[in-house]
Amino acid sequence: EFLYIELRRTTMAFEEITKPSVSDMKETPNLIDYQSTREDFDWYRDGFSGLDWLPDGGLNNAYEAVDRHVNNGKGKQKALIWIGKNGDEETYTYSQFKEESDKFGQVMKNLGMQRADRVFIFMDRIPELYFAAMGILKAGGVIAPLFSAFGPDPVRDRMEDAGASFLVTTPELKSKIDTMLPDIKTLQKVIVIDKSDSANIKTDEKTLLYKDLMKNVDATNFILEPTTQYDFSIMHYTSGSTGKPKGVLHRHQAVVQQWLTGKWALDLKEGDIYFCTADPGWVTGTSYGMMAPWTNCVTQIIYEGGFSAASWYEIIQKYGVTVWYTAPTAIRLLMRAGEAVVQRYDLSSLRFIGSVGEPLNPEAVVWGNKNYKMPIHDNWWQTETGAIMCANYATTNIRPGSMGKPFPGVTMGILDDQYNELGAGESGILAVRPGWPSQMFAYWQQDEMYNSRFKKGWYITGDQASIDEDGYFWFQGRADDVINTAGHLVGPFEVESALIEHKAVAEAGVIGKPDPIAMEVVKAFVTLNPDYEATDQLRRELIGFARDKLSAGVAPREIDFIDVMPKTRSGKIMRRLLKARELGLPEGDTSTLEDDG
Ligand code: PRX
Repeated sequence: EFLYIELRRTTMAFEEITKPSVSDMKETPNLIDYQSTREDFDWYRDGFSGLDWLPDGGLNNAYEAVDRHVNNGKGKQKALIWIGKNGDEETYTYSQFKEESDKFGQVMKNLGMQRADRVFIFMDRIPELYFAAMGILKAGGVIAPLFSAFGPDPVRDRMEDAGASFLVTTPELKSKIDTMLPDIKTLQKVIVIDKSDSANIKTDEKTLLYKDLMKNVDATNFILEPTTQYDFSIMHYTSGSTGKPKGVLHRHQAVVQQWLTGKWALDLKEGDIYFCTADPGWVTGTSYGMMAPWTNCVTQIIYEGGFSAASWYEIIQKYGVTVWYTAPTAIRLLMRAGEAVVQRYDLSSLRFIGSVGEPLNPEAVVWGNKNYKMPIHDNWWQTETGAIMCANYATTNIRPGSMGKPFPGVTMGILDDQYNELGAGESGILAVRPGWPSQMFAYWQQDEMYNSRFKKGWYITGDQASIDEDGYFWFQGRADDVINTAGHLVGPFEVESALIEHKAVAEAGVIGKPDPIAMEVVKAFVTLNPDYEATDQLRRELIGFARDKLSAGVAPREIDFIDVMPKTRSGKIMRRLLKARELGLPEGDTSTLEDDG
């Protein structure tokens, strides 16, 4: 039924990594005994009650992340250390963080932002991004952060779909999307953050400068919007097999699980120096790049630059990073950079390493254990789940290649195609019992799609997995056509739609092609309109065209010209067949495939 490449082994290829007893550990972990905690777990006692809540009983995630520490006498602790691309450094305490975010909250209230208005944040990782995000949340708005590498098309699609009211961006990124901004009819104001003071930005009624707004605002009387746990807070777009990306809407309540998983699955403790390499344009960068660390009162390192083995190790050494959360593609790149590079740095401050977003191959876990003197802890979750659902914990033994065991309070199962539960050792649909605190509330204005994710009392994740005799979960692949390239989900439809806008292209079919580093890369097959010739020059032109429209990460890395696009009788492109051909696998029973549209 499912065409997936088996990247993971369901049986152990490497020996289990046993953890020392708690008394032999450098520090006592927060979650000491997984099994007994799980048996005795209660979301209200262990989760909801661990936060401060608002005086009137409401809940606001930014209040829990920032303000409450100031109220609890921890205002002088460092909340964030920012390292710019060019080596600039800025440090902010929780008090300063509160002040800056209060100011921006007041700015947004003055501009007329209403509760649940969608505010898009399209920018690189600079401190102002975080001040703005927390300010918007405190003022009752919904933040929708976008990856700064996106081109105009993905930005327009998402802002239009969400009915965006405001946009916070930087001069360079604004100029990238300027021509399409008038298309967003709901857009009221664009706030431009010019950190370097370099750009010459034309302000007008609609375009305002962050600096001016922040200078002139008086936030001494800022009143935090009395949100409840049911108010909307964050929206992230995620890709499916068909159609445009869907807006996954989360509520303030999600912070309960983000805080507790930060504490138990990443072992975050007050005073930790935490380094999360994810961008807030993706869910890891908000759940674990904002909410989990700051609700746990750690000092977060925010690095504006991208991947670089030397810079990352340098950061860990210089700032004494204790907890590091990253992704498999990065780990594979670190492996490629080699052991000699690791040895040049003192990484002894590290206490815990976590990984998420794509399968972490067992070799990487073992390599990490040798080179970092500790295993890498794989965990599993999704944009829709809002927080970690399944994890390897500080005290649990690791079976390399397994994503560990369900978080206390979370029930996961493996189902057959009739949604009945399977036993140990059988592969099937990975599903979760609904009702965890960070569960998505909706796909923005797509109720049917949302409802289709729930079957027979289960939430259907869209992944395939199995569970072993001892309760460890093993990821096997996705059950749909979504491509996971370097941990980022890419919907083939979005790429196909961009390609067919080129005058030479008649039809396009897009698949994920296995790749040793990025797990998959985007590959397109296209048929050409009459009068166009399949040349290398056209191939390069199409790749460039898609990069400008989408972004380098989403555009196809490879394009093949084909004469006939395989389609079902109802006209759907048969991506599975394209994939089977690419991999040299049997094409399967195409007569049934032709009917499945
Ligand atoms: O297919 C799974 C893969 O990434 C998907 C979720 O992607 P996204 O919604 O962008 O959320 C990313 C933040 C976690 C999953 O459905 N995935 C995620 N974690 C793992 C994984 N695949 C294998 N192993 C993992 N640990």
